[in-house]
Amino acid sequence: MSVQLPTSKLGRTTVEVTRLGFGAMELRDSSIKWPIEDTDAEILLNRVLDQGITFIDTADCYGRSEDFIGRFISGRRSEFTLATKCGCIPGGRDWTADNLKRGVERSLTRLQTDYVDVVQLHGATPDDLNQEESLEALIRMRDEGKVRWIGASTSTPHIETYTEWGSFDVFQIPYSAFSQENETQITDASKAGMGTIIRGGVAKGHPGEGKGTPDRWALWEKAGLGDLCQEGETPTTFMLRYTLSHPEIDTVIVGTQNLDHIRANVHAASQGPLNNDIYIEAKKRLELLT
Ligand SMILES: NC(=O)c1ccc[n+]([C@@H]2O[C@H](COP(=O)([O-])OP(=O)(O)OC[C@H]3O[C@@H](n4cnc5c(N)ncnc54)[C@H](OP(=O)(O)O)[C@@H]3O)[C@@H](O)[C@H]2O)c1
Repeated sequence: MSVQLPTSKLGRTTVEVTRLGFGAMELRDSSIKWPIEDTDAEILLNRVLDQGITFIDTADCYGRSEDFIGRFISGRRSEFTLATKCGCIPGGRDWTADNLKRGVERSLTRLQTDYVDVVQLHGATPDDLNQEESLEALIRMRDEGKVRWIGASTSTPHIETYTEWGSFDVFQIPYSAFSQENETQITDASKAGMGTIIRGGVAKGHPGEGKGTPDRWALWEKAGLGDLCQEGETPTTFMLRYTLSHPEIDTVIVGTQNLDHIRANVHAASQGPLNNDIYIEAKKRLELLT
């Protein structure tokens, strides 16, 4: 039995997504540092859906991630909104129309679906793009029904430029308590009607419980944020709720290979934003340090 997760309409799209999403990069393949067996990937992806998460993010260059989604949960396609990314080639990026089209076709085959809800340019800067060719390729695929909405995985200062272009429906943006440089841009993009998908929202998990490093988490100790945790709250779930406290974030895609971490994240997200006094205090302590 899944708990009720808060949801948000993904910007100007018509889909409602859970504010906790799942980042499927962690299911890359057996050549990376943290390999995953097929059976574990099957259990994990089904658990994500069983726990009520309705948004999954992947990419054509995440090793076996798209294959796993296709093999293990394409039969449950109506239960989730699916976002992928395009533009990768081995060792780099290629934003030509041919490569974007080839990438999306390959994704659809692996994902065993006729359409993805969102396709995102995987890190293109405005200067990288032959604007007409790349965007026209995406729009053509949208017209053909292969993708429903188009987006960009990006950060400031490109968010502002892309918002002005007005062509994208969603942005994927890095943001967390430790990395707040896109905070106002998230608000501005959301107010302009863009869906906001956040990555990095738990800073890879607290060292020891997740895969974050002491370096990445240095601000946690310096700001004494552990004092602000409620009973039963871990540093990682506190971080998740901090991220979810930004009101203009539609969904935070957290990756994990760990079933207990899915449960903990779902529980934390179901509690909603941090208590306002705690959020303000955490913000104040972090601001003093940055
Ligand atoms: N350029 C791009 O577009 C781009 C780049 C990076 C990522 N992404 C997307 O964003 C997603 C998230 O990636 P991210 O890099 O931002 O990582 P993240 O979400 O900040 O952290 C993911 C890590 O946090 C750990 N974790 C999750 N829940 C936890 C919990 N409750 N307690 C302890 N540890 C926990 C996981 O380790 P365990 O497995 O040990 O739980 C996992 O390795 C990716 O899957 C991908 O979809 C996109």
